[in-house]
Amino acid sequence: MEALDRLRAEAAAVLESAADAGAIEKARVNFLGVKSGQLKELQKLLSGLSPDDRPAGGKRFNDAKAEIVASFALAQDRVASSQQSGVPNVEAIDVTLPGDPVRMGHLHPITQTIRRVQEIMARLGFESVDGPEVEDQWHNFDALAIGAEHPARDPLDNFYLAVARGSDPLLLRSQTSTVQIRVMERREPPLRIVSLGRVYRPDTADATHYPMFHQVEGLLVEPGVTLAHLKSVLRFFASSFLGGDVRVRFRPSFFPFTEPSVEVDMEWGGRWIEMGGAGMVDPAVLEAVGYDPDKVSGFAFGLGVERIAARRYGVADIRDFYRNDVRFLEQF
Ligand code: DAH
Repeated sequence: MEALDRLRAEAAAVLESAADAGAIEKARVNFLGVKSGQLKELQKLLSGLSPDDRPAGGKRFNDAKAEIVASFALAQDRVASSQQSGVPNVEAIDVTLPGDPVRMGHLHPITQTIRRVQEIMARLGFESVDGPEVEDQWHNFDALAIGAEHPARDPLDNFYLAVARGSDPLLLRSQTSTVQIRVMERREPPLRIVSLGRVYRPDTADATHYPMFHQVEGLLVEPGVTLAHLKSVLRFFASSFLGGDVRVRFRPSFFPFTEPSVEVDMEWGGRWIEMGGAGMVDPAVLEAVGYDPDKVSGFAFGLGVERIAARRYGVADIRDFYRNDVRFLEQF
């Protein structure tokens, strides 16, 4: 019966070193297999024992079998728990869980305002055009009938650029009216354009001023245009932009490039707010770009983008638009 002891020891060793469920199953078939397991073979020898030795032999056989079965169970537990303890090392991904939210940004409120103005004006057939921010004297002043002695040209009121001695002074444009000239020089009437962009003036920043700000410039040139057309367009624009029926009021004013000229006020929430300037394009301007003032007339207007954005969003200090504080910008 030493064979039983050897088998017991061998089974214990094999099962102890079995690394996975496959090895254990192989060992099980080898030792405990019902058909040709090694234990089965030894069981057959029991019948060859003398009747006196049989009870003791049977007992030893049963003990050996119980021990191998126990080793087998132990090995199974060991492999199962080592697989489990491996779990935390493997990142479990549940693809059905909702993902981490992506932080979405959005357009700056001034950019949103510009797009909205463009979209409203497009409904009236006004095409959006751009012009350069670095301008020459002709487009910023002369062609707009702003004479050589006009105070608007004062170096203290403009950002002139350093240019080579003898060449024409350049400046950061102080108004988007420059774009009226650039478009009229290139195209023939009829014209309906809007231009929105940055303008620059060396103002001290306060709640309503900033050295860089934005303007909306509008221009319409066709035969038979009147101030009534201007008012209708501005009223349609103001009502669409601010919501509700916004009233528009003209006050007499003066701009070198319009005749007559008006200040444009809009009534919103029971208050009149000044929105900018406008008027009928001065015949001298039409002539400067080669149009015939006897054949066409036009209106033009210029509004402050920050002003209408502040109005619409209830912003009290336009500097907030440029501080880039996310807590402010997030609100739009
Ligand atoms: N460019 C003028 C300004 O910056 C605003 C303005 C007034 C524009 C009358 C116009 C206009 O087109 O017709 O103060």
